[in-house]
Amino acid sequence: MSNNRIPVYQPDLGGNVKKYVNECLDTSWISSRGRFVTEFENNFSEKIGVEHAASVSNGTVALHLALLALGIGPGDEVIVPTLTYIASVNAINYCNATPVFVDSVRDTWQIDPEDIRRHITPRTRAIMPVHLYGQACDMDAIMAIAQEHRLFVIEDCAEAFGTLYKGRHVGTFGDISTFSFFGNKTITTGEGGMVVSPDKTLIERARHLKGQGLAAHREYWHDGVGYNYRMTNIQAAIGLAQLERSDEFIERKRAIAVLYGELLRDTPVEIHREAPDTRHSYWMTSILVERADLRDPLRQHLAEACIETRPLFYPVHTMPMHSRNFRRHPVAEDLAWRGINLPSYPGLTDEQVKYVCEKIREFFKKFSK
Ligand SMILES: Cc1ncc(COP(=O)(O)O)c(C=O)c1O
Repeated sequence: MSNNRIPVYQPDLGGNVKKYVNECLDTSWISSRGRFVTEFENNFSEKIGVEHAASVSNGTVALHLALLALGIGPGDEVIVPTLTYIASVNAINYCNATPVFVDSVRDTWQIDPEDIRRHITPRTRAIMPVHLYGQACDMDAIMAIAQEHRLFVIEDCAEAFGTLYKGRHVGTFGDISTFSFFGNKTITTGEGGMVVSPDKTLIERARHLKGQGLAAHREYWHDGVGYNYRMTNIQAAIGLAQLERSDEFIERKRAIAVLYGELLRDTPVEIHREAPDTRHSYWMTSILVERADLRDPLRQHLAEACIETRPLFYPVHTMPMHSRNFRRHPVAEDLAWRGINLPSYPGLTDEQVKYVCEKIREFFKKFSK
């Protein structure tokens, strides 16, 4: 990588990462057994304040196991925001259940509780709020709807490790919740994920399923069709070292978001701001341009200055495999066509943030001529 290029994300793999990984190599505990797996699970659950945690090989399978643990299957409907990463929806499809798309709230970009209400049918079994880009969903409203209609809640926290809603970590509200530790996530294990729950039975089911459905007390006897969704000791070693530095990462990412906010004040871009009563962990600092036709030219202008960006996710209901159920979700569509994620990693310097903002200003100056 050239020194001048500013990637959209880059993990910080300092701290004890090498030491712990070397311990795996030196002791030859490199598969899914070893001290780091248990320690990572324990420290993770303690950090966010949830009783039980099961590590898995990525955030997508975490969602699959969460749905299976709740018994979601054919004929069931699961309510999910259309503005999300494809994995949230794919996991519902893996269970042969039906994803039911709902729109987003304009200000927070998160799943709209009023639209959830409009989409509940006798087949609805669960709601899957996704805490998008590090912002928190309106969990009071969502939990009230779930209670009223006796629905399960699966929180997809892949992008929201460290996000708080009314002082509580996201992932502690639902029946079961999931996290991702992909290389661009706030804490990473390369590939990896976690399923967490206050309910021991649900996590025991997830554990059973992630280890080939192995029976508890007999070798090579399987009492269910399971999967190999286990995390390795090496992944967990990286995760444990990352967790040790997670407060520092989040603090820095929040400071970066504040700096972007200050430097982009008085420009035509709108920053994805922290909602009241929440702590945004700013997995990504995201912006909206005024008009959809300016989004790609601005990204191109930044790319020419060696600044990497990402568009917001395309709303999943617009994708070909969901075209049979196509309908408009105007807020999600509007946000998606206008949104950009800016470089947002802990190692980004203030000077680099200033440079990105200068280039954004330069674009609008050129454009307004
Ligand atoms: C909202 C959301 N859900 C699920 C996932 C899936 O996680 P993974 O990539 O670890 O499978 C991701 C991300 O990458 C995500 O952003």
